[in-house]
Amino acid sequence: MALPGSLNRYLLLMAQEHLEFRLPEIKSLLSLFGGQFTNSQETYGKSPFWILSIPSEDIARNLMKRTVCAKSIFELWGHGKSPEELYTSLKNYPVEKMVPFLHSESTYKIKIHTFNKTLTQEEKVKRIDALEFLPFEGKVNLKKPQHVFSVLEDYGLDPNCIPERPHNIYFGRWIADGQRELIESYSVKKRHFIGNTSMDAGLSFIMANHAKVKENDVVFDPFVGTGGLLIASAHFGAYVCGTDIDYNTVHGLGKASRKNQKWRGPDENIRANLRQYGLEKFYLDVLVSDASKPSWRKGTYFDAIITDPPYGIRESTRRSGSQKQIPKGIEKCPESHVPVSLSYHLSDMFFDLLNFAAETLELGGRLVYWLPVYTPEYTEEMVPWHPCLKLISNCEQKLSSHTARRLITMEKVKDFENRDQYSHLLSDHFLPYQGHNSFREKYFSGVTKRIAKEEKSSQD
Ligand SMILES: C[S@@+](CC[C@H](N)C(=O)[O-])C[C@H]1O[C@@H](n2cnc3c(N)ncnc32)[C@H](O)[C@@H]1O
Repeated sequence: MALPGSLNRYLLLMAQEHLEFRLPEIKSLLSLFGGQFTNSQETYGKSPFWILSIPSEDIARNLMKRTVCAKSIFELWGHGKSPEELYTSLKNYPVEKMVPFLHSESTYKIKIHTFNKTLTQEEKVKRIDALEFLPFEGKVNLKKPQHVFSVLEDYGLDPNCIPERPHNIYFGRWIADGQRELIESYSVKKRHFIGNTSMDAGLSFIMANHAKVKENDVVFDPFVGTGGLLIASAHFGAYVCGTDIDYNTVHGLGKASRKNQKWRGPDENIRANLRQYGLEKFYLDVLVSDASKPSWRKGTYFDAIITDPPYGIRESTRRSGSQKQIPKGIEKCPESHVPVSLSYHLSDMFFDLLNFAAETLELGGRLVYWLPVYTPEYTEEMVPWHPCLKLISNCEQKLSSHTARRLITMEKVKDFENRDQYSHLLSDHFLPYQGHNSFREKYFSGVTKRIAKEEKSSQD
């Protein structure tokens, strides 16, 4: 049992995917459950092994009920750079902390986990036998043990240079696994209603975690599409709603995105998606609405806004307009009541989004969104800024050799005042992203392909 105020050491085994997203996920979840991520905590960048100091096993368990970036957590009993160092460290671990799990009435199993190396069964048995000095008094039970212990060996990150001996060895008591299986069970491939830009299940859960979504929150997606982001939030117990400019998407009509299917079926919509996962009770509503002209009364309605705005690659960035706003030379529609779609500059869209979040989020609520960038021109100054929102994290996901999208997480730290609406115009951050508006043209221009070709031929 940890003394009040004291910290126990835990070993997190991280998944080797979406590396940049891992630290903000773990930090966000720790802050949600009352744990803290301090500088003294050791993180190993790209390594799958992280040591965390947190006050209680409850926090560790809560963390694992949410994370999709971590595979498992262990109470760390010993750690060393060689077997000898590990054994010395284990001998120094207080016996009174071990005894509750090793006494004669208990059953247990020891597992060997290696990273970047495969061991033979014989080598594994040797490692287990070497732990004889630990005061195990219970019985081994391989099928249904009460307690599982693991030796974890780290052979570094380079598969072309695997060392003879591990860089680090850990021994710990397994506590819980993370939620990696959600990636499969919520896979878009098996989803009822999908579109060309439906968000990948793993990333949707990461976004909900960066947003610190919790039970009974209200979560909003202004560019809702097929509602992929709402599903992840609803899974964590939040009530969800969204808007989209596209009537067919909101009503589940029009052309299907699946091969071998021409039109969407009768019940292909966001509500049915939530029903598929037993989450229908969390559905508030989805509306046809233009995010550039929000139709909300003043107020703070949302605990989180989680969204993937259009980049104009597979769907257009549009906003509704009047006939008058159509530039001269373009033929106007004779029925003036028909809404007209105008192009919507990316920079305007992001500043509208930040303003909307600043106005409608609860204090402490988070905005999580994707910002597309042309990597050769990207600088941190391009990330849109708002006086009411503090930047929490900014992680890159590569799309091609020269394009990427960045997952931006911001937290509302100040109440919105009318004058905040235009403050982005005064900021240094407005102009750089405005210059970046040609993301779509750059994506399609063939520039990226040409550069990649040139790079390849210079390497040959
Ligand atoms: C990248 S997709 C969102 C995909 C969604 N996350 C999903 O899982 O299906 C962007 C969506 O924004 C919508 N959109 C484009 N311009 C809009 C606007 N001005 N207001 C609201 N929605 C808009 C598009 O119709 C599209 O469905």
